[in-house]
Amino acid sequence: MDRLARAVNIDDLRALAQRRLPRMVFDYIDGGADDEVTLRRSVDRFRDYTLSYDTLVDIAAIDTKRSVMGAPMQLPFFISPTAASRLFHISGEPAVARAAHQAGIVYSISTLGSTSIEDIAKATPGPKLFQIYVWKDRGLVKEVLQRVRAAGFHGVILTVDVPVAGNRERDPRNGFSIPPAVTPQTAAQVLTRPAWAWDLLRQPRIKPANFAHLPEPPGGIIGFINSQFDRSVTWKDAAWLREEWGGPFAIKGIINPADAERAVALGADAVWVSNHGGRQLDTCPTTIDALEAIVAAVAGRAEVILDGGVRRGSDIVKALALGAQAVALGRAYLWGLAAGGEAGVARALAILEAELTRTMALIGAPTVNDISRRFIRPPG
Ligand code: FNR
Ligand code: LAC
Repeated sequence: MDRLARAVNIDDLRALAQRRLPRMVFDYIDGGADDEVTLRRSVDRFRDYTLSYDTLVDIAAIDTKRSVMGAPMQLPFFISPTAASRLFHISGEPAVARAAHQAGIVYSISTLGSTSIEDIAKATPGPKLFQIYVWKDRGLVKEVLQRVRAAGFHGVILTVDVPVAGNRERDPRNGFSIPPAVTPQTAAQVLTRPAWAWDLLRQPRIKPANFAHLPEPPGGIIGFINSQFDRSVTWKDAAWLREEWGGPFAIKGIINPADAERAVALGADAVWVSNHGGRQLDTCPTTIDALEAIVAAVAGRAEVILDGGVRRGSDIVKALALGAQAVALGRAYLWGLAAGGEAGVARALAILEAELTRTMALIGAPTVNDISRRFIRPPG
C-alpha cells in the first residue's frame, strides 16, 4: 500500500491512523490518564538522554538478535499486550501476531483481547505470551491458564499496574465504550469514518473473546475490569499465579526497585518496567528514568523489559544501553494496525528495525551486546 510506504516514521503512521479511526477510537489508543503528564513525558524523556558514539568501527554486519524469556528473536523489541485490536482494524490480533512472526519477534495477547487464545495459536506458530490479571474468580484464572498451556503459549505476563481502571478522560468525553455504543454523539464521529464503520458492521460484536461465555457486565471493558478485577490482590496471589502456571513468567507494571526485588523473590523470569503507557497513575515516573535503578536491583537474576513511549529506534538503543533485555511496543504497532492491518504493523516494525540498525551503525555497536552503558548520557 502506497500510503504505508510513504510513512517514514511512527508519527506518520499515527497520522494515518487518525485519518482512518473515529475520534473516540483514536483517542482510546492515543490517550492517557488525568492530565496525560506521564504520557507526554514518557515520549519526550527519551530525548533528554543523549547518545555518544565510537568512530571507525567495522559495522559491515549488524546483528540485532536478542531473546526474551527464552524465546529467540531477530530483534530486541516485541509486541506488548493491548486490548481489543479488532476495534482498530477488522484483521485484529491475528494480523498483529502474523506480522510479529514474520519479523521474528514475540507476540503478546491481552486478557482483554478480541480474539481467543485458541485463534491466536492458529494465527501464529511463533513464540507468544499471554497477559493475565488475577480475577476474583480463581477458578476462571486456572481455566484460562489451562487453555493457554494447551494452545502452546511459551509464557505468561501478570500485569500489576491496574488495581483499578485508570481515569482516561478522553473516553467519557467522546462517549467511548467497548463495544462502541450508538448514540447521536458516537454516530456523528463514526459517520465521518465510513471505511472503518463498514468494517465494524461486517464483524461480530467486539468483546473480550476469552470470556465470551460469561455474562457481559454493563460499561463494556472498563465495566468488565471493575467487576472482575480483585482489589484485594497482593504479592501472595502473584506467587500463587506463578505456581499455577509453572512456566516463564513476567511481572508487568513495575516502576520501583523494591517491587522489582519482590518480583525476583517470587521467581519471576522477567521484571517488566512499565506504567501502562501513562494510562494508569498520572505523574508517575517515566520508565526510562526508572530503568537503571531497577536493573541494578535485579542484578542479573531476571531479565528486565521496558515499555512506554518508544517511538524511535534510538529509544530502543537507549533502553538497551541502560540494561534492558528487550523493549515492548504498544501504540507504535497499534497505529500501524489502525493505518493498514497486517501490512501496517509490518511497516511499523520495519521502520523501527531500520532506525535501530542505523543507530547501531552510527554509534559503532555492530551487535546488540555491544550496546553498553558508556554510549548513553542520562540528563543532569
Ligand atoms: C494497553 N496496555 C495494556 N497492557 C496490558 O497489560 N493489558 C492490556 O489489556 C492493555 N491494553 C492496552 C490498550 C491500549 C490501547 C494501549 C495503548 C495500551 C499497555 C501496553 O501493554 C503498554 O504497557 C503500553 O502501551 C506501552 O506504552 P506505549 O508503547 O504505548 O507508549
Ligand atoms: C487499557 C486497559 C484495558 O490500557 O489495559 O486500555
